[in-house]
Amino acid sequence: MFNVILFGAPGSGKGTQSQKIVEKYHLKHLSTGDLLRSEIAEGTKLGLEAKKFMDGGLLVPDEVVIGMIDSAINNNKDAKGFLFDGFPRTAVQAEKLDELLQQHNASINVVLALEVSEEELVKRLLERGKTSGRSDDADKTVIRSRIEEYRKKTAVVADHYRQLDKVKNIPGEGTVDAIFTLLSKEIDQVIL
Ligand code: AP5
Repeated sequence: MFNVILFGAPGSGKGTQSQKIVEKYHLKHLSTGDLLRSEIAEGTKLGLEAKKFMDGGLLVPDEVVIGMIDSAINNNKDAKGFLFDGFPRTAVQAEKLDELLQQHNASINVVLALEVSEEELVKRLLERGKTSGRSDDADKTVIRSRIEEYRKKTAVVADHYRQLDKVKNIPGEGTVDAIFTLLSKEIDQVIL
């Protein structure tokens, strides 16, 4: 199994680049944001609970997202590998992910960290908010909260994988294709 984490702040391009990576490398895309938005669209209890946090730009509790990822891994045992997008987002989630993968004799092969300035992040999200219908994109205060959550709780995830020498920093500003080329080069160096 070949497993990649696409890491970065809200608006850094994780979703955009994930689409291209899973297509090229035939990985299973696991985005906790997408999974949570599906739960909200279906009006499930989990979705309604998660929405309260998401609308405020706050992280959803660890046990909720860990449970979703656990099920997703178990439901895709034949996958060639996973691309984790927006997960893990806390130190607890990172430790749990390592454990879950170990149960399948697998581990994270590489963490690709997209680096984008805060000014550009806010610009991209406000622009998308004009048409996306995502409540967490529409308000500058909520966007700032999301970035603050990233700095307070998520940046440490990179430290966790840096200690294991698995993090590659990628400049996340420029054209989508140019960034994809940089990401592909890193994947090609570690893919089995
Ligand atoms: P999630 O859905 O993961 O959103 P996010 O991390 O806030 O990131 P976005 O999807 O907004 O941005 P992205 O980095 O994917 O960039 P994208 O490609 O979309 O999470 C939403 C919420 O769910 C969280 O706030 C939290 O509440 C909850 N949640 C999710 N996972 C969780 C977890 N593990 N634990 C706890 N809570 C969790 O691009 C953004 C925009 O920029 C787009 O319009 C795109 O077209 C544009 N763009 C992309 N690349 C470029 C480029 N190179 N140049 C110019 N524009 C670009």
